[in-house]
Amino acid sequence: MGKILVTGGTGYLGTHMLVELVKQGYEPLCVDNLHNSNPSVLLAVKEICGKEIPFIKADAGDVAAMRALFAEYQIDAVIHFAGHKAVGESVAHPLMYYRNNYDSALTILEMCLKHGSALVFSSSATVYGVPHFLPLTEDHPLSAVNPYGRTKLYIEETIRDVALAHPEFNVSILRYFNPVGAHESGLLGEDPKGIPANLTPYVAKVAVGELKEVQVYGDDYDTPDGTGVRDYIHVVDLAKGHVAVIDHIDKEGVFVYNLGTGHGYSVLEVIKAYEKAAGHPIPYAIKPRRPGDIAACYADASKAEKELGWKAELTIDDMAASSLNWQTKNPNGFRDAE
Ligand code: UD1
Repeated sequence: MGKILVTGGTGYLGTHMLVELVKQGYEPLCVDNLHNSNPSVLLAVKEICGKEIPFIKADAGDVAAMRALFAEYQIDAVIHFAGHKAVGESVAHPLMYYRNNYDSALTILEMCLKHGSALVFSSSATVYGVPHFLPLTEDHPLSAVNPYGRTKLYIEETIRDVALAHPEFNVSILRYFNPVGAHESGLLGEDPKGIPANLTPYVAKVAVGELKEVQVYGDDYDTPDGTGVRDYIHVVDLAKGHVAVIDHIDKEGVFVYNLGTGHGYSVLEVIKAYEKAAGHPIPYAIKPRRPGDIAACYADASKAEKELGWKAELTIDDMAASSLNWQTKNPNGFRDAE
C-alpha cells in the first residue's frame, strides 16, 4: 500500500483520482489551495470511498508547507494536477500562469528529488500544437500556441532536464486529451465557474434547460461533418490510467504517455450522444470558428496499452450519460452542498 499525494485533489480530475486510488488500495493524501474548487467535494469523496482522505489546505508552490508535508508523510508518488488551466485566461494573464504553474511544479520537483518520491505530471495534448499528422503519437513534435500550453511544455522540458541530472528519478508525463463525464454515483463531476468554455459541460447545461442552445464553433472544417473532432476520454478511465502508471513506478527514467481513447468524435456526434442520454433533441446553432481552434486532435493511445496494460473502456454514450446524471442531480454544482 503506497501513499500518494494528489495536488489539486479537490478539482475535477483530482477528486476522481482520489476515489480511484482508494478503490485500488492506495492511500491518497489531498493538497489543494481551494482557489478554484469547493471543500465540500471531500464530503462526496468520503461518501463514495467510505472513508475520509487526509486534506491539507495549501498551495503546492508553497515551499514551507510542502516541506512540512513531506517531512510528516513518507510519500511514494505525487500526482501533480494543481495548476491554472483556462486557455483564454492564460492569454489575458500570462504572468499569473507562468508564476503559478511553474512555482508549484518546481516545488513539487524539489520535494520529489529530496524524498525519493516518484512524480506523475498532468500534461495535455495541447503540447502537440497544430497536429502535423494524426493520430498523435508521443513522438509528435511539440509546440505551444498559448501561455497555458507553454506552461505545460516548459514544465515537461524542465522535467527532462531534472531526470537527466538524476537518473534514479521516476517521472511520468501524461498528456490528456479531452477529459469528460462524471463519477457514476452522480456525486462528483465537472463544476466550471460561470458559463462553461468547454463543449461538454455546455451541452449538459443545454440538455437540462439551463442554457438555451449549444453554439457549434464552425461547420466548415476538413472533418467528416465539418465540425471539430476531439478525443474525449471518460474522467474515470483517465484516473485508471494514472493508477496503471503508479503501478509501474519501480522503474527509473522519464515515461511519456498519451491518455486518450484513440477515437475522434465531432461536435455534432457529441451533441447526438447527449440527445440519446437525455431522450430529447438538444438545440444548437452553427457559429463562426473559435479563434485558435484546430480541426481535429486525437491520440494514438497504443503506447500506454502496450507498456502499462491500460486502455480507455468507457464509450461516448457512457460519457454523456454520466455527465448528464451529474448535471441533473447538481444543477448548481457543488454549491448546493455548502
Ligand atoms: C480545450 C483547450 C485545451 C485544454 C482542453 C481541456 C482551448 C483552445 N483548448 O480544448 O488547451 O487542454 O480544453 O479540456 O480552449 N466547441 C463548440 N462549442 C462550445 C465549446 C466548444 O463547438 O461551446 C467545440 C470546439 O470548437 C472544439 C470542441 O468543441 O472543436 C471541443 O472544445 P473544448 O471542449 O473547448 O476543448 P478543446 O478546445 O479541444
